[in-house]
Amino acid sequence: MDTPVTVVIIGAGNRGLRTYAPYAKRFPERMKIVAAAEPDAARRARIAQEYDLPPERTFRTAQELFAQPRMADMAFICTQDGDHVEHACLAMERGYDLLLEKPVSASVSACKYLLERAQTLGCSVTVCHVLRYAPFYQKAKELAASGALGRIIAIQASENVGYWHMAHSYVRGNWRRADETSPMILAKCCHDMDILIWLADSPCKMVSSMGDTAFFRSDNAPAGAPGHCLDGCPVKFRCPYDAEKIYLTDALTGFYVNGAGWMQNAVTPDPTREGVYQALKAGPYGRCVFRCDNNVVDHQSLCAEMENGISVSFLLSGFNQRNTRTLRIMGTLGDVYGNLDEETLVYTPFGKVPQVIRMDVQETISGHGGGDYRMLDEMFAARAQGTRTATDLRRSLDGHFMAMAAEHSRLAGGQAVDVETFVAGFPAQNT
Ligand SMILES: NC(=O)c1ccc[n+]([C@@H]2O[C@H](COP(=O)([O-])OP(=O)(O)OC[C@H]3O[C@@H](n4cnc5c(N)ncnc54)[C@H](O)[C@@H]3O)[C@@H](O)[C@H]2O)c1
Repeated sequence: MDTPVTVVIIGAGNRGLRTYAPYAKRFPERMKIVAAAEPDAARRARIAQEYDLPPERTFRTAQELFAQPRMADMAFICTQDGDHVEHACLAMERGYDLLLEKPVSASVSACKYLLERAQTLGCSVTVCHVLRYAPFYQKAKELAASGALGRIIAIQASENVGYWHMAHSYVRGNWRRADETSPMILAKCCHDMDILIWLADSPCKMVSSMGDTAFFRSDNAPAGAPGHCLDGCPVKFRCPYDAEKIYLTDALTGFYVNGAGWMQNAVTPDPTREGVYQALKAGPYGRCVFRCDNNVVDHQSLCAEMENGISVSFLLSGFNQRNTRTLRIMGTLGDVYGNLDEETLVYTPFGKVPQVIRMDVQETISGHGGGDYRMLDEMFAARAQGTRTATDLRRSLDGHFMAMAAEHSRLAGGQAVDVETFVAGFPAQNT
């Protein structure tokens, strides 16, 4: 790559500003940020300052930026779930290729519509299914595809959401309501559905799913618990979900030990000790976890049969100390299992000595097991070579459709859903 790919960042939040933008600082020969759109004044000022953007290249909204003539090769759409389709369409109509955050949309019709628009306009769209680029999953895929495991019969996976992450994102925070963003099986687990399809090398045929909000609901509130943790909650010191503990004092997640991380930055535009404290006193992230307006599940299971006959079992749960994913692939000649957080797979050819495979991931350069930056590496390389990325829009939608069919099944009490028939029931339209 001789000259850097020029990029406009749409949404300078956790993903736009804190995850993807720093790649341009680290690899200036590959990526250059030339404009940004962000309604929040503090975030807009920060991206302008850090990336040297003049006032005429910083915009309040995606709509304002895309009203201008095209000013870069690519647009990174890093806004919230419900805005992706509108912002992606505006960008493609202006001729931008896209990096598009997941989930693409919670609507089957809108996903199909976006795909049609991308094909008509000839735009390349890479969906941020970052896990496909993580060495842990790439090694698992290599073993599955190489025949080392024999014929793959079954895959078991789980998404173990840390209790603090569950409380932050899915009880108090941005993804707490399926009607406003996406159901949790899509918001959190479209990654997992994508990985399962990739590892099985087959789309999903039938899926059945169950789950609900078992714990984070008002009838589980301790007696006397107020609306906000800082309003004199009587069980504050024995509740692991206490907001002051999670955001300020806890050794793993709190500001006092770790400074401001992605959670504190979501809590307040002023992620200082005092800023976080004040935001917890009255803001949404200080609410009692039993007194929020959340409606997404806190656990969900799924069993599926892939088109090629492989059986899949998957569990999502918000009740874990460790925030990680686990995986087990079972073949006729061997199995492999591992834990993403440990960056280790154990591969055993049947009857032989297990082989422990450790990934070489420099956590300091990116998140998601190394997937975030490797995705950008591959996307820029594919762009230079004129090839498709591993997570282009067409491929990525299979995982979305599996998640949506699973949610449909859950809402129907676990009834088995034929994914192809389910998807065919929706026209391509911008809903
Ligand atoms: N790929 C992954 O692994 C991964 C991980 C986390 C989040 N996500 C997804 O990334 C997306 C962004 O998540 P986030 O945590 O960065 O959220 P965020 O709320 O921190 O950032 C979104 C930003 O978009 C801005 N925005 C809102 N309306 C806008 C408009 N009209 N024009 C321009 N900007 C606008 C908001 O002010 C905000 O700063 C979500 O869809 C989320 O589901 C993906």
